[in-house]
Amino acid sequence: MNTVTLGISFKEYSSIEEMDAADRMLVEEAIEAQKGSYAPYSNFNVGAAVLLEDGTVVRGSNQENAAYPSGLCAERTTMFAASANHPGKAMLAIAIVGGFDHAVAATPCTPCGACRQVMAEYQTLSGKPMRIIMYGTERAWKFDRVDDILPFIFDSFNEK
Ligand code: THU
Repeated sequence: MNTVTLGISFKEYSSIEEMDAADRMLVEEAIEAQKGSYAPYSNFNVGAAVLLEDGTVVRGSNQENAAYPSGLCAERTTMFAASANHPGKAMLAIAIVGGFDHAVAATPCTPCGACRQVMAEYQTLSGKPMRIIMYGTERAWKFDRVDDILPFIFDSFNEK
């Protein structure tokens, strides 16, 4: 029997100015996207922006519904829109912002497990790493690939 320890490394930024231009642009797109959030039940508004390999940016936000489970997180709304409208284009990065009452919180908004699983599939499909930028006004985190936030990814393609 062995005890195995996993480690991940990621970048932490204390302001948007520390980020490189491409990441900063994507965070700004996510902040714009947050304006479209419809979250009257939780009042927690999330915006996301996906960068495609051809430079296109797709925005999305969380959309809630009176039948609660019918709503969807910002990340999945955005990735599904990207895939539906630009099929086959690799998603190279996703930026996420969140906060109550349309504000951007001080701490990063971290994606739920279901959104991580969806990120994983699009990353596998394209064969290119998808970086994940979680932005908060006091600190922001960047992960280089989905594997870093979802170890032991379920990937049925691997079974074939
Ligand atoms: N939400 C997101 O859109 N993304 C996240 O990363 C966390 C949670 C949404 C779902 C729901 O509309 C609201 O935030 C409160 O959970």
